[in-house]
Parts: sequence; structure tokens; C-alpha cells
Amino acid sequence: MLSSEEVKKNAGVFAADLVKNGMNFGLGTGSTVYWLIRELGVRVSQGLEIRAVPTSAQTVSLALEAGIPLTDLDQVAQLPIAIDGADEIDPQGQLIKGGGGALLQEKIVAAAAEKMIVIADGSKYVSQLGRFPLPVEVIRFGYKQVMRRLLDAGICRSVKLREKNGTPFITDHQHYILDCQFDHIDDAPAINTFIRNITGVVETGLFVRMASSAIIGHSDGRVETIN
Ligand code: A5P
Repeated sequence: MLSSEEVKKNAGVFAADLVKNGMNFGLGTGSTVYWLIRELGVRVSQGLEIRAVPTSAQTVSLALEAGIPLTDLDQVAQLPIAIDGADEIDPQGQLIKGGGGALLQEKIVAAAAEKMIVIADGSKYVSQLGRFPLPVEVIRFGYKQVMRRLLDAGICRSVKLREKNGTPFITDHQHYILDCQFDHIDDAPAINTFIRNITGVVETGLFVRMASSAIIGHSDGRVETIN
């Protein structure tokens, strides 16, 4: 049985093969993507020429440390792939993301990419989304109104302002995150549309019809690709 870090590493290293010489690609955020960054850093030092569009400040610093050249969405004509982690993946390829708070930039990069490839360990693959609290990025001004709208609509069981070290967590784009606890999410597209229509909401962590495939690492050492 492999440790959870070894499983994440296997998924990250496997995904590195998808980043071809000369490619611009979207580079996600999180502890699984960390291993992708490490592996690509080694390959860059051996001559691989690539440019990453990072999805968070955390990824910017990890990528620079690993020696991966960066670019941004406004500079690239094409983004063939984006590779990113997820908090939950269902059999339709719908995702919950944003556990690390980077969902907004992650979604923008995924939307710009021709293919979004998810990397994760097997525990993230679920039959139905909703056990992991859905992160919703909101404007700080008046955020309690958004909380009230979410609760009044009765779509989720509870809503919590995300905190870090006892103070509200602030995203890279200077917003708050509301973590919404569901029992389960039956209709992800409808929930996504409903929440995005609340004034003050910037984006949700529901990624619908965005992922093309998922690379899933297992504790027995297998790495599976689900299309
Ligand atoms: C960051 O905001 C998230 O969307 C991450 O991509 C997601 O939480 C997966 O991260 P891990 O690979 O660390 O579980």
C-alpha cells in the first residue's frame, strides 16, 4: 500500500508526460500538482521547453522555484491543456474545486484550455458530488447577504465563511470564500447557475463540462486514466 503522498506523486509524474516540448499549458494548484511541478522542473533542467500559465500565487512560487518558465493567458494564442487537482470528481467528470482557495483563477485557466486534465488520488473519485463543502468565492462587501440567500434558498445545509488563523481567508483576487455544505449535489449545472446568479458571487468551485479526463492514482500503485 502506497502512502497518500506517493499516490499523488504517481498521478503528478504520470501527467508530466502530457506536457510536450514547446507547449504552453495551464498549471493548477494543490498538493497533487506539487508533484507535477517537481517532475516538470527536472525535465526543464534536462532541456524540455515549456511555459506554464499558473493558477495561483502558490503555484507561481513553486514553479519559479522548480525553474519552470511562466507566461499568462493574455500572452498565449493557444492553451492545449490545463492540468489541475480536484477535491471531488464524479463519473460525469464534474468537479468540486477550491479547497485550496484558488478556484477563480483555476476556472479561468481551465475555460481557456482546449482540454482540462484532472490529477487526483482515488479518494477524490466519488459516485456523487457534495460531501466536500462547495467553495464559493464572493466579494467581501455584503458577503453576509450572499450567505443569507444561499441558506434561504434551502439548497445547502450550512454556509461558513472560510477562515485562516482566526481571520477570514482572503483569495489571491482579494475575495472571501464561503464553504457550503450539501448532503449531496443532485444537479450540478443547476446549482452552479443558481449560485452564480446571486449578486456578490464571483465564482463557484463547481466545474461542469470542463474536465476532459482524469488521471487517478491508486494506493496499489496503479494510475488510471478516466475519459
Ligand atoms: C485549489 O484551490 C484546489 O482547487 C485544488 O486543486 C484542489 O483542492 C486539489 O488539491 P489537492 O491536490 O491538494 O488535494
